[in-house]
Amino acid sequence: MSLSLLARQLSESATLKLNATAAQLRGEGAPVIHLGGGEPESKVPPGAIKAATELVQSGEVRYTPASGTREIKDAIVHYTGRYYDYEVGRENVMAAAGAKQALMNCLLAILDPGDEVIVPRPYWVSYPDMVALARGVTRFVLPDPRTLEPRIGDIEALVTDRTKAIIFNSPNNPSGGVYSAELVRAVVELCEERGIYLLLDDIYHRLLFDGRLPVSCYRYARKHGDESRIVVINGVSKSYAMTGFRLGWAVAAKHLTKIMSNVQGHMTSGPSTVSQAAAAAAIRGDQGSVDELARGLEGRRDRLLHELGSLPGLEVNKPGGAFYCFADLRAFDSDSRRLAAFLLDKALVVTVPGFEFGMEGHLRLSFCGKLEDIVEGAQRIRRALTP
Ligand SMILES: Cc1ncc(COP(=O)(O)O)c(C=O)c1O
Repeated sequence: MSLSLLARQLSESATLKLNATAAQLRGEGAPVIHLGGGEPESKVPPGAIKAATELVQSGEVRYTPASGTREIKDAIVHYTGRYYDYEVGRENVMAAAGAKQALMNCLLAILDPGDEVIVPRPYWVSYPDMVALARGVTRFVLPDPRTLEPRIGDIEALVTDRTKAIIFNSPNNPSGGVYSAELVRAVVELCEERGIYLLLDDIYHRLLFDGRLPVSCYRYARKHGDESRIVVINGVSKSYAMTGFRLGWAVAAKHLTKIMSNVQGHMTSGPSTVSQAAAAAAIRGDQGSVDELARGLEGRRDRLLHELGSLPGLEVNKPGGAFYCFADLRAFDSDSRRLAAFLLDKALVVTVPGFEFGMEGHLRLSFCGKLEDIVEGAQRIRRALTP
């Protein structure tokens, strides 16, 4: 069988693979604790369930415009006004099958073969493969080792005349780090000066802890409308616990939105009609579940850090958002894949090796699951690593 060079270059999604391994072991009856997950365990908001059910029961579930229905676009316009304090129109908005699809459409819309995309380490596992799918080349930036935040000087040093985009993800998967307002300001300025797109993957932007408030990138922008270099990627997967609906979006300049929507039209014809209705209802509905989720995650974070705290040699920054912490375990093993395999074998705990996020010596531990699993998982890790 002959396969394309491009397809052979891609790796299987490490996190999806781990989910499958955990499910298989559980299916065989092993008491596995899954600290590798990437979705909240809370329920979908009732308004979203009602909207989806009503649409399905109407029996009229049809194609929509490739960029989304008027209803979902209006909801995203409203969301951008409310959470970014920024006014956009329907022509700036494209709904897609998840933030992932929105980002992919954007990369396909802006990259020519060999164009470069700057990605700070540690990064979400999919970015390098997505850039490769769009025939681009990823240039990685090492972070400040203390904060795991990239330094603007290091980003600037990587900019060439092939640089088309910088991808920022804050709160960050896998570190839970929240980039400082100064860094966001500096990168907006850099992108505007050098004509580079700034792709902000904001999928965790409302899952913030310790009283933090989301920083709106638009506050620092001087270029607006068709001049804007900012592309905000977001979706309902995390904040509204709607991962299975597969509904995300991009907010961008009008001409770019049009091109991204053309790309999407030929790939998927647009996101599911049912999911668009559900997501619009979630965005328009009572937002209490989002705050409740964030508070619940904050409590789980504290408990996880407390349980891990007494393990000498482990270093970890306190996550400011999302639902991951990125533990530096180099004192135990600098090979994160070997360490993750050891913990799965010895303690039946699933973790994600830092290698997958471009930073060896670390493990990503999720705290989006049940509190008792988080506590038990951390205690098992501690026991397994204590001589
Ligand atoms: C940083 C980041 N971006 C995007 C996504 C995917 O979001 P969606 O489910 O909307 O495609 C994830 C999911 O884990 C993520 O962690």
